[in-house]
Amino acid sequence: MFKTLSLSSLLLATSFNAFANQPILVQGAMDMETNVLIEALDNAKEVTRGSWTFWEGEIKGYPVVVSRTEIGLANAAASTTLGIELYNPKAIINQGTSGGHDPDLQRGDIVVGKESFNMGAYKVAFKEKGEGIHPTAWENFDVVMRLRKDGELVNYAHYEGDPALLAHTMKYAEGYSHGKVVEGKIGSADEWNREIDRINWFHETLGTSTEEMETSAAALVAEAYDVPFIGVRVLSNTDLHKQDFDPATAKHCQEFVLKVIDGLVAQYK
Ligand code: 5AD
Repeated sequence: MFKTLSLSSLLLATSFNAFANQPILVQGAMDMETNVLIEALDNAKEVTRGSWTFWEGEIKGYPVVVSRTEIGLANAAASTTLGIELYNPKAIINQGTSGGHDPDLQRGDIVVGKESFNMGAYKVAFKEKGEGIHPTAWENFDVVMRLRKDGELVNYAHYEGDPALLAHTMKYAEGYSHGKVVEGKIGSADEWNREIDRINWFHETLGTSTEEMETSAAALVAEAYDVPFIGVRVLSNTDLHKQDFDPATAKHCQEFVLKVIDGLVAQYK
């Protein structure tokens, strides 16, 4: 009997059973993107596995886990896998800073991810020696995933934000005082782009609203486990308007997300 226990069930047995309800898992890559959330937790307990730290606590009597994912796609995927295996969350919110791609958006505005995708995955057509390098001709590469329910391979050009979480998050748009809150497409890559022509090219050919380095990797793992997922990204910088990185935006994004969490707690309780 014991032999049939998987590693994941052993982890589950040691951790999330402490919670009476499935927690909300809320993620941020860096300290400046998680500090306000951690501060909002009652009875916070810190748990670290590998490079990734989780703060288990409560908000208004409901379990909430804050996850510091660290920066980049690989970190986001690893920490999301751990977060799901450890806590079996009811919903995942990935939030934090980003760089604007849509000229209609200013620093301080928030993009709620109707979609996210791996903006740094490319298919490149063959060219002979001497024919050059042509980034604007490179095509985005779909992610291929094996579905859990039937083992089928499926191509994903993007991941959709959970419709209920998207609608719920948008309800708080009016109350946000540091800019506007819009639905949009989040492009994730291990890149920080500052060439205006390239930023415009992403926006025009792939429809990106903003770029950052984690959302689509967390969305991939959430999709694999069928956990409702939403990305919430503040524009902390946008070269389209010569607006440099402002750390205050990371705080404002967390404060917005805390209101979203309060509303979810009222629903889930
Ligand atoms: N491009 C890429 N990542 C950005 N981030 C904020 N702005 C940008 C940008 N313009 C976020 C990433 C990562 C960290 C370096 O900052 O998501 O976590």
